[in-house]
This record gives sequence, C-alpha cells and structure tokens, in this order.
Amino acid sequence: MLEPVRDGNWIFGYGSLVWRPAFRYVERRPGQIRGYARRFWQASTDHRGTPEAPGRVLTLVEAEGELCGGMGYRVDDAVMADVLTDLDHREKNGYQRVSTSLYFDRESRETAVALVYIAGPTNPHYTGPEPVEDIAAIAARARGPSGENREYVLELARALERYGYRDEHVEAVARVITNRG
Ligand code: BEZ
Repeated sequence: MLEPVRDGNWIFGYGSLVWRPAFRYVERRPGQIRGYARRFWQASTDHRGTPEAPGRVLTLVEAEGELCGGMGYRVDDAVMADVLTDLDHREKNGYQRVSTSLYFDRESRETAVALVYIAGPTNPHYTGPEPVEDIAAIAARARGPSGENREYVLELARALERYGYRDEHVEAVARVITNRG
C-alpha cells in the first residue's frame, strides 16, 4: 500500500527545476510521476532562446506506462502563493499547472500530490516531435535571457544521472550536443 505523505504543498520539477529551483522550499526529495514522458518539444523565445532564434526546452507529453524522474519540493504555506505567482509568470509561454501524484524514491512507499508545469500540444510554442539531431543542433547554439540552451540540456542530464534516473530522450540530445563540441 502506498502511503500519502502528511500535508504539504509539493511542486515537481522535471527540467531546470531539478538542478536550479530558484524558489524557497523547506524540503526536497527525488521522485517520479507516472504517465508522462519528458520531451524537448517546446520552443523557447524568452528563456533559452529569442523570438528570432528560439531554443528548445522541455514539456511533458502523456505516455502510458512511462515514469518521469525529477525533484519534488515542499513549499511552506506562507510562501506558496508567491512561489506559484513567480513560476506562473516565469513559465507564462504556454505552460499550465497540472496536479498529479508524485511517488518518492524507490525504497519509499510515500506519495504526495504535486503541481507540475506542462505546455500542452495546443500552445503556440509546441513543436511536436522533431529529430533528436535537429533538437541538439538548435540547443547547441541557442541562448536567451536565462543563459545557454546547451547548459539547460547538459545540467539536466548530469542531475538525472546523479539521482539515478534514466531518460533516453534527454541522454540522446545531451550526447549529440557533447559530441558536436
Ligand atoms: C521544470 O523544471 O520542472 C519546469 C519545466 C517547465 C516549466 C516549468 C518548470
């Protein structure tokens, strides 16, 4: 039996929030959500690219049977509204908050309800499936106000490895970028 954790405002990060949360939290725990796959299928004109040269950032696509590993953050009641306001503003280009179950790491039987930001297929920046080589070529040269697109990919790949989460899509894009030099 899975045991729900006691109360808490949980936010699940699967992209840059895994390695750079940039908000106040009281606890963080690696975990996974079910039924979603991470894909670099969202054009970024405001963070890791520009309107003239959009980069590629992550969204989640529905994928039955898939697990997506990342980081859960528990946020204090007193600051949760402000944290969400900041994230809503930061992720205004197509992302929406979705509530889902978060399963804490392998040996734990605990779960929580967490909020996650997803940019769905009807948002104007959604690219849909693109070849890994094309995504990597774009990410290798794009940069925007939040920094280089390649950093976004490579830091996530390192963080997932550190926490023991495999993600073939992220690893493939990171490998092509690294091999391009
Ligand atoms: C994240 O890192 O989990 C994240 C991805 C896209 C939008 C907001 C957050």
